[in-house]
Amino acid sequence: MSVRSAPATGSGHDAAEVAKRVDALIAGMTVAEKAGQLTQYFYFGPLPSAENQPGPAFPGQPAAVEAALARGEVGSLLLVTDPAEVNRLQRLAVAGSRHGIPVVFGFDVIHGLRTIFPVPIAMAASWDPEAIEQGQAVAAREARAAGIGWTFAPMVDIARDPRWGRIVESAGEDPYLASAVAAAQVRGFQGDGLGSPGRVIAGPKHFAGYGAALGGRDYDEVNLSDSELWNVYLPPFEAAVRAGAGNIMTAYMDLNGIPATGNHWLLADVLRATWGFDGFVVSDAQAVHNLRTHAFAADLADAGARAAQAGVDMEMALGDPAYAHLPEAIAAGLVDEKILDASVRRVLTAKARIGLLDDPYVDEENARTVLADPAHRAAARTAAQRSAVLLRNEGGLLPLANPGSIAVIGPLADSRRDTLGPWVFDFDLDETVTVLDGIRNRAGAGVQVDYAPGIRPAHRTFPSMFDMFVGNAPVDPPRFDDGAELARAVRLAQASEVAVVVLGEWQNMIGEGASRSGLELPGRQLDLLQAVLATRTPVVLLVMNGRPLDLRWAAENVPAILDIWYPGTQGGTAVADLLFGDVAPGGKLPFSWPRTVGQVPVIYSHTASHDPGQQDRRYWDEASTPLFPFGHGLSYGRFEYRDLVLDHDRIQPGQTITASVTVTNTGERAGDEVAQLYIRQRHGSASRPVRELKGFRRVTLAAGESWTLTFRLGPGELRYWNAATRDWVIDTTTIDVFAGTDSTAELTTSFTIGDLAPARQRRAVGSFAPGRRLAAGICWQT
Ligand code: NOJ
Repeated sequence: MSVRSAPATGSGHDAAEVAKRVDALIAGMTVAEKAGQLTQYFYFGPLPSAENQPGPAFPGQPAAVEAALARGEVGSLLLVTDPAEVNRLQRLAVAGSRHGIPVVFGFDVIHGLRTIFPVPIAMAASWDPEAIEQGQAVAAREARAAGIGWTFAPMVDIARDPRWGRIVESAGEDPYLASAVAAAQVRGFQGDGLGSPGRVIAGPKHFAGYGAALGGRDYDEVNLSDSELWNVYLPPFEAAVRAGAGNIMTAYMDLNGIPATGNHWLLADVLRATWGFDGFVVSDAQAVHNLRTHAFAADLADAGARAAQAGVDMEMALGDPAYAHLPEAIAAGLVDEKILDASVRRVLTAKARIGLLDDPYVDEENARTVLADPAHRAAARTAAQRSAVLLRNEGGLLPLANPGSIAVIGPLADSRRDTLGPWVFDFDLDETVTVLDGIRNRAGAGVQVDYAPGIRPAHRTFPSMFDMFVGNAPVDPPRFDDGAELARAVRLAQASEVAVVVLGEWQNMIGEGASRSGLELPGRQLDLLQAVLATRTPVVLLVMNGRPLDLRWAAENVPAILDIWYPGTQGGTAVADLLFGDVAPGGKLPFSWPRTVGQVPVIYSHTASHDPGQQDRRYWDEASTPLFPFGHGLSYGRFEYRDLVLDHDRIQPGQTITASVTVTNTGERAGDEVAQLYIRQRHGSASRPVRELKGFRRVTLAAGESWTLTFRLGPGELRYWNAATRDWVIDTTTIDVFAGTDSTAELTTSFTIGDLAPARQRRAVGSFAPGRRLAAGICWQT
């Protein structure tokens, strides 16, 4: 399907006209109305009635929000997905506001609204920016049709610690890949810009550093060096801003001792002054309020004033907003009303640009049609095919060679809710295809497909906050006899030609508030796998996960392992397509897969220090290399790389060099490959990583087919942030280039930057911040 739409150049969205209209509105607003416009409320349900109870956690909350709407003191609402409710609440807002200003409905549309796509880490594993853009375009179309104008996505936090549950929402460990994924998601959500029909405002989050929580514990403090911040954690945000993101969400935690939501350096100096961000900033939920819990703000008026001053335009609030105290803060001289005016201007401009001021209501009939669009399901199926990663395939067990009988084993194999993954709220379980369903549908009448869960689901020690939604936590099947069920699964495997075992984490074990202290398969899943493998029936292990798990035993003993992540609405169909070889897997890992939790964090782009020859033996009890390297993933073809060639052997700082490499499918079947290009700087004004990804391209190659791929290495790829000069630099140096199938690629060549003799090749050259001019007159533009 095509999801591109025409540029948003409607006359109503002309910048000068918008500015005039917005200024006129601001001129007539009271301070309380301005503070209200800067407040976003959760809305937990309709007012209490006999048949319709409010959300259990906050019983009085809907009534309080409706009262605020009636006073014209709400800028935005979140959690409403029913178009009829959107219209009802919008009527309250428009009637309540003296100026008839509508609210903008925001929501966590993370990997789909009704049509659920694979989780974000899975989409990143596709290494396919086009598929990622298409997926978020579908999500945007559904959201917009339902009346949602703004999504709190993409999450562009770098995640290097898989104990952190939100790794599932990320693009993994690498800034280059994550930047490409971030930009693709923003393009998908927003189309050609704010106001594109059928699109929504994208809100990259959580600014910044949230993924580096101490111990992987969600919300805990983050301490990042200057070099890590600029070289690793900030680039995906910059990429998202450059892709035109209309919104940014702040993070919960302290960054280097200052709460991110009250951090003027982050929000004013980096985001606005350095990157030129001109959208609006929202806090994470309760994060302004929490400036008090951080032992930062004295009270709510202080919290509101300091967040507003730091650059938070809108507060996301559960209730009792700090921004309701802004009038009082202005009266006390804590914050200038001009700061509020600037924030209101940004919020109203966004509303105007997406057409909300002209057309605040949603067409409920159209919503039904869009949400049911079969093209969306087809896109989700393709996405799930492209995101799967074939971790191991000994003896070419996959694709399956027409087995007469298949045993499908493991509780996750037939769990619709878990197939969808976390961070979905408006899904349709009835249309969700589990792995068991998918295999049954594809295998057809001639193949015996039988199912046994083998074990009961595992449970969290502490419940998830999302377990308040019915069906979120797994439920133990009634009258489940553990011994008898395990024996039944084993008998089934024995009686079948192949066993497909689905193991992983239940979806409420991953996501927000789902950090773990270990990475083992929860519950008795390893016992089940070992028992099935002992039958000597060939086993295909499908891993349903959002983080790497401890698969050491499986990686040595199970012949085929396919990581299917949480594959979404069409997950089971896509998995069957892959198992039967209708399409070939081609996803690659967006993180280094640790052997054990004790290795965490393990990254491919580490620097070398003392005794690099022993890098793989830093522990005495376990190899310190990952179980599977960053970028790893097999296909049904086999790929060889040759002829890595550069168009120059020397360039000057600021110039671009082009690398080309030929990849050939030497296997007997067609397959998908992601060709990857890495660099290593030999010496310079800082020590640099042993490898850094700087280019990739996914291709489909028929058996025997070759492609020559080219990659450009320009200032954007060759610069880095130097903590000593506190600036972007390009060193005069020698750069090694590597091309291949993953981050251990060995095919290599090199080139030099600058003219100096090696002994003097020490000085960094110039400032390579975007748009800055060098003495030599070279200017790097993104
Ligand atoms: C808190 C989460 O950190 C954030 O990512 C999310 O968008 C908001 N809650 C709203 O649900």
